[in-house]
Amino acid sequence: MHGFILAAVCLTLATPWSAWGALPSADVERRVEALLRRMTVAEKLGQLQQLDGEAEGAARPEHFDLARQGRLGSVLNVRGARRVNELQKAAVEGSRLNIPILFGFDVIHGYRTVFPIPLAEAASFDPAVAQRDAAVAADEASAAGVRWTFAPMVDIARDARWGRIAEGSGEDPYLGSALARARVQGFQGLDYSAPDKVLACAKHWAAYGAAEAGRDYNTTEVSESTLRNVYFPPFRAAVQAGVGTFMSALNDLGGVPSSANPFTLTQVLRKEWGFDGFVVSDYTSVQELIAHGFVADGSEAARKALSAGVDMEMVSRLYGEHGPALFKAKRLSEKVLDEAVRRILRVKFRAGLFERPYADEAREKFLLSSENLRAAREAAGRSMVLLRNKDGVLPLAKDLDVLAVIGPLAEDKAALLGAWTGDGRAQDAVSILDGIRAAVSPKTQVMFARGCEVQGGGSEGIAQALEIARKSRAVILVLGEGPDMSGEASSRSDIGLPGRQLELARRLAALGLPTAVVLVNGRPLALTGLAEATLALLEAWQPGTQGGPAVADVLFGGVNPGGKLPATFPRSVGQEPLYYNHKSTGRPTDETNKYTSKYLDVPSSPLYPFGYGLSYTDFVLSDLSLSAGSIPVDGRLKVSVQVENNGRRAGDEVVQLYIRDLAASVARPVRELKGFQRVSLAPGEARVVEFELGPEELGFYALDGRFQVEPGRFHLFVGDSSVGGLEASFMVLPRGS
Ligand code: BGC
Repeated sequence: MHGFILAAVCLTLATPWSAWGALPSADVERRVEALLRRMTVAEKLGQLQQLDGEAEGAARPEHFDLARQGRLGSVLNVRGARRVNELQKAAVEGSRLNIPILFGFDVIHGYRTVFPIPLAEAASFDPAVAQRDAAVAADEASAAGVRWTFAPMVDIARDARWGRIAEGSGEDPYLGSALARARVQGFQGLDYSAPDKVLACAKHWAAYGAAEAGRDYNTTEVSESTLRNVYFPPFRAAVQAGVGTFMSALNDLGGVPSSANPFTLTQVLRKEWGFDGFVVSDYTSVQELIAHGFVADGSEAARKALSAGVDMEMVSRLYGEHGPALFKAKRLSEKVLDEAVRRILRVKFRAGLFERPYADEAREKFLLSSENLRAAREAAGRSMVLLRNKDGVLPLAKDLDVLAVIGPLAEDKAALLGAWTGDGRAQDAVSILDGIRAAVSPKTQVMFARGCEVQGGGSEGIAQALEIARKSRAVILVLGEGPDMSGEASSRSDIGLPGRQLELARRLAALGLPTAVVLVNGRPLALTGLAEATLALLEAWQPGTQGGPAVADVLFGGVNPGGKLPATFPRSVGQEPLYYNHKSTGRPTDETNKYTSKYLDVPSSPLYPFGYGLSYTDFVLSDLSLSAGSIPVDGRLKVSVQVENNGRRAGDEVVQLYIRDLAASVARPVRELKGFQRVSLAPGEARVVEFELGPEELGFYALDGRFQVEPGRFHLFVGDSSVGGLEASFMVLPRGS
């Protein structure tokens, strides 16, 4: 074996990445067992250890020592082909068993070419956008020596205060599942040993997005029914798409921390879903079992996390420190250790690490290619959502003589990238101001003023902004959140526009000029005041490296916006958590009846619902038809509808199918998305869109944890958002009737 590995290493060095290909699984298992038999306890515990590198990508001397001792299974943040190869060499050529290190990094929405944040890509309602982002990111990251990304983040988020809503696909399990699949496929391809692919990691398992009050890392309390029906489906979709790893979350779930939870880690993930990859803890989450008040000391933390099913420990070192004593005292069986090592080695073999441990340093030169930039620009355009466009303010003409661009985010490049920028750099990004300047006619004079800061004051700035606006034909106002206002540890209790931005918008609107607001932000915002003040609102999210050109594409009509909201925009933060797929209650909101479920001071409805988004053209849905009025529980129903573009521009509509199960053993949501299709139509063009509903769409997890379709009446809605639409109903009949 030893000789074989060395031979493979030499071959790999000679032909850096020509020798790859998925190993047959029997071979993988045989090699895992053979290696495992030769390992000492210290080497086994070493495979379970992941340590952090320096933020800018360097390894530390300690990593080299541990690598040579065969006691470093993985590192995170160490990147750059040369650096990776140096450290890898210590493990592969300097250690007794030559086991390669797995290099992990957070590649969330791009590596060097930054794509729109995942929430934005969810707004495209086009999984191909997310898949392409992940494929480009995998290509660039692997060129820099990264073999494993801590993505996709597939947490359902129902509360916009939670800053990490930016990193996921929003509030809906069906959309979230489609995007989870797409991202796993994009990162891993069919075979993650390919030189341009990376191993993916579904995170944060489980229900981390349910953080109470939207405060990051907070406790979660979720019923098993809601876990199975809402929070689990995107994780399951990731497993079905072949995701190689999972990350255990930082939260506790009903008092049991997710990084020591046998129900989620073993019962559901391994036993029910058959996942055979490995689970890595989140950053120090094993150590944090002590702060949770779940264990008294590090030894107990190691014992509980490892025996619950967390195989690899990120950053804290309790497995390595306490493992030997725990085994000796028989407080932890070595079988548990062997199983964790087996899972990690299995993934390392599948990743082709033994055949191809090194990165090809020549490949790293090709990051940020024009092809990747084009893909990022297109993704950003497809992700934008037109929230409001009164009087057809947008699109703007490209040849106005004077155009004012105002706002604290117009020139800001970092804000376009958002949280988790991989190795992306603000200086690579094109600002919105520059994007606009490049798009308008050479005769157009573009004037710029910041107006105010994102947060804090700036009354002089407002005066100056008013002054340039008065000289202009139209105003583009770029507002929103700074790059650090969403993402990890960035929850907000007030999700309105921060600082004096709303005041700036109001003062400018009072001038009566055509004014369009471009929003750059990482979460749904409460925009009631802004929507009242302005005629046009374009949600650009954090659109990435090519944000500027992509915004200009939409503002001037080169791209007709077709995105839809993947998360509800509330009227007021006090409505949070607010999501479309809520239960009915016994007293559904009725504004005319006091004793119904509502507020005294704000309507129950959102400002902009899930699935909502406008276009520069108009679409009409008609001719909803069902293949039957009733189907058996195991039957299938075909649904078709016609969508027509009856405006004057080509554009995209996302046709959405929702169901409601009217009576079930567990009350079901008032609506659930069960199908969507984004279609592009020329002016005057019509198309019939078809959906199919079967047990997978009509069923749900009942209280006993089993998935089932229950007979009874269902409503069905087909529309352009989660509100309104064409309606029909059908019956699901008991088997055999
Ligand atoms: C985050 C994870 C991330 C990890 C490694 C943690 O703080 O919660 O999402 O993958 O750090 O950077």
